[in-house]
Amino acid sequence: MNYKKLLFFLIVLNIHCSHAQDIRKSILLNKNWKFSKGDFKDANQIGFNDKKWETVSIPHDWAIYGPFDENNDVQKVAITQNLEKEAKRQTGRTGGLPYMGIGWYRNTFSVPNYQKGQRVSLIFDGAMSEAHVSVNGKEAIFWPYGYNSFHIDVTDLLNADGQKNLLSVRLENKEQSSRWYPGAGLYRNVHLVITNPIHVPVWGTYITTPYVAKDYASVRLETKVENVPNKTEIRIETNILDKNGKVVATKNDIRKMNHSEPFVQNFTVNNPALWSPETPTLYKAVSKVYLKDQLVDTYTTPFGIRDIKFIADKGFFLNGQLRKFQGVCNHHDLGPLGAAINVAALRRQLTMLKDMGCDAIRTAHNMPAPELVALCDEMGFMMMIEPFDEWDKAKCKNGYHRFFAEWAEKDMINMLHHYRNNASVILWSIGNEVPTQCSPEGYKVAKFLQDICHREDPSRLVTCGMDQVTCVLENGFANMIDIPGFNYRVNRYEEAFSKLSQNMVLGSETTSTVSSRGIYKFPVEKKADAIYPDHQSSSYDFEYCSWSNLPDLDFAMADDKEWTLGQFVWTGFDYLGEPSPYSINAWPNHSSMFGIIDLASIPKDRYYLYRSVWNKNAETLHVLPHWNWEGKEGDIVPVFAYTNYPTAELFVNGKSYGKQTKNNTTPQNRYRLMWMDVKYEPGEVKVVAYDKDGNKKAEKIIRTAGKAHHLELVPDRTEMQADGTDLVYINVRMVDKDGNLCPNDQSLVNFSAGGAGNYKASANGDATCLDLFHLPKMHLFNGQLTAIVQAAEKAGKLSFEAKASGVKSGKIALDVK
Ligand code: GAL
Repeated sequence: MNYKKLLFFLIVLNIHCSHAQDIRKSILLNKNWKFSKGDFKDANQIGFNDKKWETVSIPHDWAIYGPFDENNDVQKVAITQNLEKEAKRQTGRTGGLPYMGIGWYRNTFSVPNYQKGQRVSLIFDGAMSEAHVSVNGKEAIFWPYGYNSFHIDVTDLLNADGQKNLLSVRLENKEQSSRWYPGAGLYRNVHLVITNPIHVPVWGTYITTPYVAKDYASVRLETKVENVPNKTEIRIETNILDKNGKVVATKNDIRKMNHSEPFVQNFTVNNPALWSPETPTLYKAVSKVYLKDQLVDTYTTPFGIRDIKFIADKGFFLNGQLRKFQGVCNHHDLGPLGAAINVAALRRQLTMLKDMGCDAIRTAHNMPAPELVALCDEMGFMMMIEPFDEWDKAKCKNGYHRFFAEWAEKDMINMLHHYRNNASVILWSIGNEVPTQCSPEGYKVAKFLQDICHREDPSRLVTCGMDQVTCVLENGFANMIDIPGFNYRVNRYEEAFSKLSQNMVLGSETTSTVSSRGIYKFPVEKKADAIYPDHQSSSYDFEYCSWSNLPDLDFAMADDKEWTLGQFVWTGFDYLGEPSPYSINAWPNHSSMFGIIDLASIPKDRYYLYRSVWNKNAETLHVLPHWNWEGKEGDIVPVFAYTNYPTAELFVNGKSYGKQTKNNTTPQNRYRLMWMDVKYEPGEVKVVAYDKDGNKKAEKIIRTAGKAHHLELVPDRTEMQADGTDLVYINVRMVDKDGNLCPNDQSLVNFSAGGAGNYKASANGDATCLDLFHLPKMHLFNGQLTAIVQAAEKAGKLSFEAKASGVKSGKIALDVK
């Protein structure tokens, strides 16, 4: 744009935009999309008839409605990471859901108060996958990687009056493109951003805190401004606001801009409130951009002030304090909601993890939704963001390796620019168990990616999840990564520590213990790859896979070795797909058993094991198994207690089985209290916990439940926001007349919801159950399931009822405000 045109625009702008909030607009394009599966010639053209297509809101995952089928994306492969040698028929690897194929979305949008000269961009937070985006019939952008966010300036494709523009998106998911359920469609948000010609581009600021101390911190802000004529003066006034909105630092600078350099401002913030998982305090840099005293843009950059250091031999320090990551890896799906992003669902996940004492999240093995990163900033989780599961060499026939050469750098840049301002992001991981790690030249690919991180974000270090320990210790790969990250193989950490120059080791992925909520197998023995006719795994937390281990070993590593940086457990939540150890010809099995929390978002026993070690501020005393073992009278049924106390005594029907105290004889004895010789008799199990001085501190009782009597409903909240997206998770429990959980009940439950909201989905955490999540009925799994209801956009009461044959129904009402 030439200068005369620009001045004309500014005069027009002066008339129309007297308020700062009019300067930049961001609109969510989430309603009234037309959707159809299948491919259509000309579906990107304005005249195309989409009347018969379904009307949907996004975020939308077309595959989560099923039906499940073992032939959906059945993969005949040898999973080499799982040490398999021969190609075998893998069922349920991507969840047995119909994510494959082509799908189209069409939406008509207008740009409110469109002024000629304004710039309009589209931001896609993620589109699964191989997205061809067209505006008014012309292709605007192609972006293959389904997990990444991308944006495009579409101004030149808009209708002159800004009214009624057609946005169309063609997506295609190839079979065998994933090792887990990827979801399908416009599963994340799409935004329309309207600015003046001179504006801060999408992700156009970079904020760092080069010096952080108690008394003051320095803050450095780089701002890109687009379309400024060369050598023209620009003024940027930036206020740094604290969490209460008080201005704590300010700068008003005038500079001549040239096209390649950002506008840099430095600030001092006195007595900064430092960001940490325990104190997730955020600041904001609010910048006003002026050209000749004319306000042309306002741009807000949220950030946190914190100091991160990785010190050889000593470990990881946040704000000068040593800590070890108590992290979990999570895939992106939200269980019964599929991949469709929802803030309330993410918040619930993080709330549960927080209570467990978890302080870090690894986004395995792809870029997260921006809402997750914002929540981690706000709620206090350190993040390790990881873009790839594959580089140039294939893990899946149609995986990312097809795009790596052309797209890796572009994908990295988008990820880095998107999230380099977020306080929660502590580390970048460039990949997960990539086969490239063992090729002689593999370190060059790693270096290429690591260098991009260093170039775009010199403020953070880089790791990589490596599983081929022998190769990477020998071929130079592990030695050139800033922070060597190992997946499993705890027994090789010591060797890695002594051979590598970094003198520290991160458990980038650990444990992979398997269990099914409420299922207990006898005899209770530690086992790798244990399989049973019911396709479940035991909740005594003694079962793992051939490549993995039990939690206690990783706890011990963190406790014993100063140079370990902590861990990211595989996984916080169960996810759709990868149903190990039931992946080879083992249908029905559609979801993982690795989660500490099940697919229905109900904690497994393991949750309390982690809580007892990680959450130092709360009391934990959890007892397993349940006590309904009809037919096993007189048989051995071991009892375990997960507690933060060192000692406890077990009583069965008043008879003592003695005190147990944690000790170093085995890794399990160090972190669990176990009575291995208990004889089952119905009645009451009581565990009494003592502190190190022998004071009685806590007591837990489990009783044999009687006949199923009624359905109990326990919502996670009783109030919802009337925003059309808020969710409440209702724990539906079959109980006896005294309220004891009936732990073997598998009844079918029917739901109805009405008033100010609707039934959304349900799940029971049983990987073998093929009930569809979106239908208002679901079987209990071991006495429990979760039903999810969604608020309407209007305030009122949302009523929910759950019915099962032969018992009293459960009914609740929630306030939608
Ligand atoms: C790891 C892999 C994860 C998951 C896990 C299961 O090797 O990085 O994506 O497959 O194994 O244990």
